[in-house]
Amino acid sequence: MLKPIILKNLRIENPLLLAPMAGISDKPFRQICKSFGAGVVYTEFVSADGIVRENDRTLHYMRFDDTERPVGVQIFGHDPETMAKSARFIETYLQPDIIDLNFGCPVPKVVKRGAGSAILKDLERLEAIALAVREAVSLPLTAKIRSGWDKGHIVAMEAAQRLQRAGIELLTLHPRTSKQQYSGEADWSLIRELKAALSIPLIGNGDIKSPEDAGRMLEETGCDGVMIGRAAIGNPWLFSSILHFLQKKEILPPPDKAAIAETFFRHVELQGAHHPLMYAGNLFKTHAAAYIRGMDGAAHLRYEMNRAKDLEQIRTLATTFFGQNA
Ligand SMILES: Cc1cc2nc3c(=O)[nH]c(=O)nc-3n(C[C@H](O)[C@H](O)[C@H](O)COP(=O)(O)O)c2cc1C
Repeated sequence: MLKPIILKNLRIENPLLLAPMAGISDKPFRQICKSFGAGVVYTEFVSADGIVRENDRTLHYMRFDDTERPVGVQIFGHDPETMAKSARFIETYLQPDIIDLNFGCPVPKVVKRGAGSAILKDLERLEAIALAVREAVSLPLTAKIRSGWDKGHIVAMEAAQRLQRAGIELLTLHPRTSKQQYSGEADWSLIRELKAALSIPLIGNGDIKSPEDAGRMLEETGCDGVMIGRAAIGNPWLFSSILHFLQKKEILPPPDKAAIAETFFRHVELQGAHHPLMYAGNLFKTHAAAYIRGMDGAAHLRYEMNRAKDLEQIRTLATTFFGQNA
């Protein structure tokens, strides 16, 4: 059911993509998801303005390890020229496998600056950004869109066609409007409509929580691959279980506590190695809570971890917890 995708010189063996997620899809999490079979991982979105200013924090978001390849760096911004400059910077200094354009972020801080999903209100600009970036870099270029700004303005089809014309080589659709944010259900029928109209590969995204969901999206829409976001948090095994399901039509048993503990502590190690001490603990809390969700004593541990001062304290609390629960 899953065929490789070829973008220029890049062969994507398995089109199960880890979604870009701000505050989540950092280098440690990408490495974890990769180890469970994600075919492509994307960085969290990075500000084109920040890249051009060579802001330290912005550059930190883009650092990746060769073990993550193929890896895509996602950028957002309003101005075509700045987007092009930042893409050239990324191509020159980082050489990821893919550069991705964000036309979907609904966060007020971003749309107020005319970036992310705000660009779906101005398709001339969307096309100008894609053309400018296409001209600036030779790396495979992909884009991610929502269905439109609001339900009165569903523009995914026109946006997709403009992007394809501008030379984007793969598109991901999250079929919710910007106004919807994450409410309601993603409208997978729009994925099917776009797939039928486009010649570039289309990745479907939105609400995949299980191997069966992934199989259903592929079957119902004919899309070329699936992107997984929220359901992978605390459950990177989802990638291996989707792969297994698509190949063998069987559902793997969920990981046991020992397997969860192994991944939890591996993630802690990567976290400590990548993030500055003062952020590492706080940035890990969402992941930590998600790994232990549903386990006996999880609520108490989550409470304790939320009060932890740093990653070391989280590690100590978890050592006691998994020791007791293993
Ligand atoms: C915490 C969080 C941060 C996100 N950050 C980004 C981002 O930086 N760039 C982007 O294109 N989408 C972002 N998204 C949207 C996801 O990539 C994805 O489209 C969305 O979560 C739907 O997929 P899912 O149902 O598999 O989670 C974010 C989503 C979440 C929950």
